[in-house]
Amino acid sequence: MELITDISKMQAFSLSAKGEGKRIGLVPTMGYLHEGHLSLVRAARAASDTVVVSIFVNPTQFGPGEDFDRYPSDLERDKRLAEEAGADVIFHPSAGDMYPQGFSTYVEETKLSKHLCGLSRPTHFRGVTTVVLKLFNIVLPDAAYFGQKDAQQALIIKRMVRDLNLPVRIEVLPIIREEDGLALSSRNEYLSPEQRGQATVLYGSLVQAARLIGSGERKASRIKEAVMDMIESAGEARIDYVSIVNRDTLDDAEELRGNILIALAVFIGKTRLIDNLELNLTEE
Ligand code: PAF
Repeated sequence: MELITDISKMQAFSLSAKGEGKRIGLVPTMGYLHEGHLSLVRAARAASDTVVVSIFVNPTQFGPGEDFDRYPSDLERDKRLAEEAGADVIFHPSAGDMYPQGFSTYVEETKLSKHLCGLSRPTHFRGVTTVVLKLFNIVLPDAAYFGQKDAQQALIIKRMVRDLNLPVRIEVLPIIREEDGLALSSRNEYLSPEQRGQATVLYGSLVQAARLIGSGERKASRIKEAVMDMIESAGEARIDYVSIVNRDTLDDAEELRGNILIALAVFIGKTRLIDNLELNLTEE
């Protein structure tokens, strides 16, 4: 496996691979890889000739006071894990090269990014779409792989790809969970053992929502209330949002019908975690 840090080298590598007719799969990450990322690498491996994993903690998607400065990293471990999962290249550029002095061009999705996480992190998705477009232009992937845990991010990237006619196929893979249901996230690293126990309330409350829906409840307000009650009962948990929305538009749903996303963001202590559940209620 090769480690490339230079942007023009990465682009030259990809141009040459494409010249040989190779299909490139890209897994964009911020590093500190876990099974969720590795499931994306394996999917990319199965469908591509060349698999590139980018590792770049992107400063523009962090707001003031967020965890940019302490985002966990372990490049040596990431290299080993990525290689074992089938990566051919790790692309690990510096922030100075990605955002040179005077950088002033951003890509902004203007509708979907105003919902859910966009409300409490107003510049987050602009940072994500900007860096993802840059990565697409550098790595030239045929397909790029994202996790469903960041459901809103995946939707926004798909919208960007459609709106800007980017020749990249977007693959979104299921959330990978710990045995007790906690969705894997590099940020789980921040949790103390006690907080780690409390963090299971995110998935627990989604399961509770699914149970209510299974028993016939269709009123979003009732389901939301049950989810919020459960989260609020967990020690240090503080709700950022609990939303029940149409999966395609992210508009609030009142009655559950069609493709629904139940999405939540919860602070456990200082750590902000997200999770979601997608439901298809079209059979009614
Ligand atoms: O999901 C992430 O890890 C990041 O938002 C991404 C897509 C790598 C962009 O920095």
